[in-house]
Amino acid sequence: MSLFITFEGGEGCGKSTQAKALYQKLQQENLPAVLIHEPGGTTLGEEIRKTLKRKTEIIHPKTELLLFAASRSQLVAEIIQPALKEEKIVICDRFSHSTIAYQGYGRKLDLATVKMVNNLATHGIKPDIVIFLDLSPEEGLARRGKLLDRFELQELSFHRQVRQGYLKMAADEPDRWLVVDATLPKKKISEIIWGKVNHSLVGKGYL
Ligand code: TMP
Repeated sequence: MSLFITFEGGEGCGKSTQAKALYQKLQQENLPAVLIHEPGGTTLGEEIRKTLKRKTEIIHPKTELLLFAASRSQLVAEIIQPALKEEKIVICDRFSHSTIAYQGYGRKLDLATVKMVNNLATHGIKPDIVIFLDLSPEEGLARRGKLLDRFELQELSFHRQVRQGYLKMAADEPDRWLVVDATLPKKKISEIIWGKVNHSLVGKGYL
């Protein structure tokens, strides 16, 4: 028994807030949960995160892909796999689908290559549930304000491609993906997410 849930979305969509809310809800239910984020979540991963987000850094798209993969591989080996083995519920704020959306659809790297690298980085692990908070890039970036990092500084067309990539992936795997309108009130979004997660928890015997 294990449950792996990932949160995905563009800039400013509120996924970190929702991931935290779900983690707190699981704690209230006395369920064993782990909350992590990508890139990062390990000592090595946090170093990679700083480099990847630094706005003065000029990184080739293929190098970027490999850096995200390196951070992910470490996170899977160090935290995710052991937690799932201990039957914990793992919530990850971004995972492999971010790479397909950002490096595949956004940077336009070959999708087959991105998926191959992802396969290596994830050690073959796939999320049971992907929660995608859908928001227009215009609104997401406006929510972010002025402290923009290397990704937020990308042109609008990049962010639009990222969103299209997410929507395509969600359409391809409707059972795994939950698409939530990120313009809804926070509380409503949490309720929708809990509906999907609760269903899985019952199905897996946690509740
Ligand atoms: P965030 O977690 O604070 O949103 O920052 C992570 C940034 O890195 C965000 O702009 C999305 C980007 N990203 C990728 O481009 N590819 C990836 O595989 C991941 C995990 C994140």
